[in-house]
Amino acid sequence: MCGIVGYIGSLDATQVILNGLKRLEYRGYDSAGIAVLQNEEIEIRREAGKLINLQRLIEINPLSGRIGIGHTRWATHGEPSARNAHPHLSATGDVVVVHNGIVENFLELREELSAEGVVFRSDTDTEVIVHLVERYLSSGTDLVEATRKALSLLKGAHGIVILSSREPDKIVTARIGNAGGVVIGIGDEEMYLASDLPAILEYTQRVVFLESRQMAVAYQDKLDIKTLDGKPVIFEEHQVTWDPISAEKGEYRHFMEKEIHEQARSLTDTIAGRVDIEDGHRVRLPELNLTREFAKRIDKIIIIACGTAAHAGMVGKILIERISRIPVEVDIASEFRYRDPIVDQDSVVLAISQSGETADTLAAMEEARRKGATLWSIVNVIGSQAMRSADGYISMQCGPEIGVASTKAYTAPLVDLYMLAILIGDLRGTLNDRAREQLIADLRLIPDLAGRCIEREDGIKKIAPKLMNTNHCLFLGRGINMPTAYEGALKLKEISYIHAEGYPAGEMKHGPIALIDEAMPIVVIAPKDPWYEKMFSQIEQAKARDGSVIAVASDGDELISNVADHVIWVPETPWMLSPVTTIIPLQMLAYNIAALRGLDVDQPRNLAKSVTVE
Ligand code: F6R
Repeated sequence: MCGIVGYIGSLDATQVILNGLKRLEYRGYDSAGIAVLQNEEIEIRREAGKLINLQRLIEINPLSGRIGIGHTRWATHGEPSARNAHPHLSATGDVVVVHNGIVENFLELREELSAEGVVFRSDTDTEVIVHLVERYLSSGTDLVEATRKALSLLKGAHGIVILSSREPDKIVTARIGNAGGVVIGIGDEEMYLASDLPAILEYTQRVVFLESRQMAVAYQDKLDIKTLDGKPVIFEEHQVTWDPISAEKGEYRHFMEKEIHEQARSLTDTIAGRVDIEDGHRVRLPELNLTREFAKRIDKIIIIACGTAAHAGMVGKILIERISRIPVEVDIASEFRYRDPIVDQDSVVLAISQSGETADTLAAMEEARRKGATLWSIVNVIGSQAMRSADGYISMQCGPEIGVASTKAYTAPLVDLYMLAILIGDLRGTLNDRAREQLIADLRLIPDLAGRCIEREDGIKKIAPKLMNTNHCLFLGRGINMPTAYEGALKLKEISYIHAEGYPAGEMKHGPIALIDEAMPIVVIAPKDPWYEKMFSQIEQAKARDGSVIAVASDGDELISNVADHVIWVPETPWMLSPVTTIIPLQMLAYNIAALRGLDVDQPRNLAKSVTVE
């Protein structure tokens, strides 16, 4: 969704902001704009469509300065057009704002401001903010106080950055609620502001994350943070270890392709330092802050997440229940938050989120907090809200995931959940030494097994053309690989726009089997796991109805190769980790089909990387 970049320092602000916005393109947007203080006046350029349109406009009509703000907008109020793109300027031209979030009471505020004579120049909710700030500035208050007063009138969740030509030594930024993050990068006599880390990593890795209801004033050489009611905040500076190069595409055509190929490495990183072979093959997850006493007290775990992360949670349910014998529920975060869930101080609510900023997941975490549960999170983005607001967390260690379709941030949490299950099982005594040692020995195989799947992309490239023109596709799985069917279908639909359904194979005969005919390709996930025989008979049932079957099967499985139309081979994998090796070829299949269809793989239509609105 919307992206924000701001800069104050001695570099050319236009270039820094355009570079930053470019790195935020993956978030999804439909217009872009930039405002720079040039010769003491605010100059704005805005354009509908992709950033390249804005860049062309700037080439024709350049602007430059040492302080500025920029934005990529994902339309909510008003069509995607230049006039609705951010930044929005006040009537005097002295104040300019970019904003993530929704001003829920904007109609009221708009009426009030119109009655005061303000003429609106866009259809956006954001424009009310700049007029409110202007209202207070013109009555003699300074920018910080005017912003504070304006913010106090807004309903909803917001990330806001404001610049004024009357006070050209600063940029003011604030965060209220969960409309995405605000991160401030500290450079050498310069400050960077952004909604997301990749926008600024190229320039600095020293960062401060703004909490909800905090306001920061960034000067070239200092940062001042207070709460919205004016109390000073002692803030913590973080050193981000992400390598800026990892946010670049390198030799790959798309980020998604690169991220699929990074999985052997990201799985190595997520395991690194967490398995102590010398100390009896034990798992260490220090940031979880889990004691033996609490592990024994946990009466249930509820995993909350959205989309791909929820599919990882479904695998996690099977792993945690099997290994540590604690009941686990999995709930879609947007459902959990409104269902009055039954949780108490002995329950753990575990949020899984790549971005750590998904509005529904954060709201579900707040609901769990209100009800007294212990909060854990598995997150990729270091310093994200889901990491900060949990009592303990596990970091995915994937590095930046830029492609909108999540890949490496799906397989890493599968392994994190596996390690978590071992840790809890160990602390609760449901796992004896031998069983634990075997599980850990299996775990250590997984980066190599993932690597072997990735090496087989040529086989996938032969199957992709056969599916590229299909209109529908069914994915079937069972047990620990049932979520693989959901996830395989989600990958295909979101980037290739082919209608795809993931289904628990055992449910076929209760309805969906009616869909099967020669025009319906069926991807059957049937590795050698405890559900193998059931899946095999599923293939036969599909073939008996003329279905065309693409099977994901373990190396050397002749039975399957005799019945399926096409086989995607995966190396034999310990069954609890098999969802890692079964999903990788399906990610590659979706990717190759979308690429063959000539689609915008990294930024599929209507989608955003970080869903910061409800
Ligand atoms: C699908 C995808 C989405 C996300 C979902 C949650 O490929 O990426 O379904 O998984 O929007 O996002 P996070 O994990 O950032 O909370």
